[in-house]
Amino acid sequence: MKVGIEAIAFHCPEHYIELADLAKARGVDPDKYTKGLGQVRMAVATPMEDTVTLAVNAALKALENFDIDPKDIGTLVVGTESGVDHSKPVAVYVHEALGLRSNCQTYETKHACFGAMAAVSSAQDWISCGRARGSKALIVASDIARYGVGDPGEPTQGAGAVAMVISDTPNLLYFDSEISGYYTKHVMDFWRPLYSKTAFVDGPYSIDCYLNALDGALADALAKATIPALYKLDQLQACIYHVPFAKMAAKAHHRHFEIDAGEKIDKESERCADVRKSFAQKTGPWLSLNAVVGNIYTGSVFLSLIDLLRSNTSANLRQISMFSYGSGCAASMNIAYPTPGFERFKDQINPEPALTARRKLSIDEYDNIMKISDSLGTGNTEAFSAGDWDLTGDFLYLGNKDHIRRYSGL
Ligand code: HMG
Repeated sequence: MKVGIEAIAFHCPEHYIELADLAKARGVDPDKYTKGLGQVRMAVATPMEDTVTLAVNAALKALENFDIDPKDIGTLVVGTESGVDHSKPVAVYVHEALGLRSNCQTYETKHACFGAMAAVSSAQDWISCGRARGSKALIVASDIARYGVGDPGEPTQGAGAVAMVISDTPNLLYFDSEISGYYTKHVMDFWRPLYSKTAFVDGPYSIDCYLNALDGALADALAKATIPALYKLDQLQACIYHVPFAKMAAKAHHRHFEIDAGEKIDKESERCADVRKSFAQKTGPWLSLNAVVGNIYTGSVFLSLIDLLRSNTSANLRQISMFSYGSGCAASMNIAYPTPGFERFKDQINPEPALTARRKLSIDEYDNIMKISDSLGTGNTEAFSAGDWDLTGDFLYLGNKDHIRRYSGL
């Protein structure tokens, strides 16, 4: 049985900042953000958006754009690390907003950015083992990435949600049932304790942890393969990775290339030209959405997947690798096959029109939003009402106002 992605959709906040503006405001050379990190813009969630509103909007688009009956959804999972409640899952708000059936199993998953990939993997198993009985799984990756204002992590924030319907009629892509490599290790690279709204991170160490996890997950995948040669880089037309910032995917591909070639490749060496060429063919072109949205944590690898699928056809895309990483840390390496004819859904999945319609914020407006967001939940209603946000904007689903007020205690 082929199990994979039948529908996919992305929802992004309607506001963004230019990273060159942020760099200037923070006294940093803009090239550091745009070239050094590879990021151009960053999505900014207003105080009227949270992981519920983002998730609901993405899920609605996935169902509507692919004409999927909500009654067919038998499992709903939201992967997030920026949920709205320690006990009540984001998924149950989504369940209500979409009007899903009551015999739908509904829950939230968490392991930093790996949470949604873990849910996709469970959904595959649920369908493959026959327990779905013809139903489909709706998996939503929804997050708002926050670091402290002025921290090195600040230009790597972002917000957005990707919703996917997983089924045995995968219109877009199906997963290799034989190959999935895993890696887990307790590390303190990035974490957000219950009392903090922003993440704590040891940036350079988090990059090392990510790359070590890539080594581990790829080695596990290849060890499980009956014919490992089928998963060599020259057999893959695309390699996508978790993308906290675009440059990280370049580092990841460099490591992937080294493992594949069985040799260390110095950045200054002539051999590195081959790495750059491989990156330019297999990874670089599918980072354009991530570069204008930022880190959306659980959804980042799937945003790159959307970019890949909207830009290719079955003629040039037959086999790809997908690496998911969540700090703390857990990772997986999957092999997947784009379904022949997937290109007929290009218009449904292309988020370009919504991204183009976004409104640019000044850095003063962004700073104000960060202040208001930080004060939410602490009873600071004055700060909240001082924000002149359009409470009825299209980006809000019906009932959002109530939901926000309910959980933020306003
Ligand atoms: P930093 O210390 O500000 O930056 O932190 P840097 O000094 O390392 O510079 C970054 C790059 O810009 C370097 O390039 C510089 O050379 C270059 P590289 O050596 O890496 O190729 N650079 C310039 N380039 C052009 N012109 C210039 C210039 N100046 C410098 N003028 C860091 C960067 C990523 C560490 C920081 O932003 C951070 O802490 N981010 C958050 C953590 C993160 O994203 N980690 C990634 C791996 S962990 C992960 O992916 C999981 C995560 O998504 C969370 C989860 O799982 O939930 C984060």
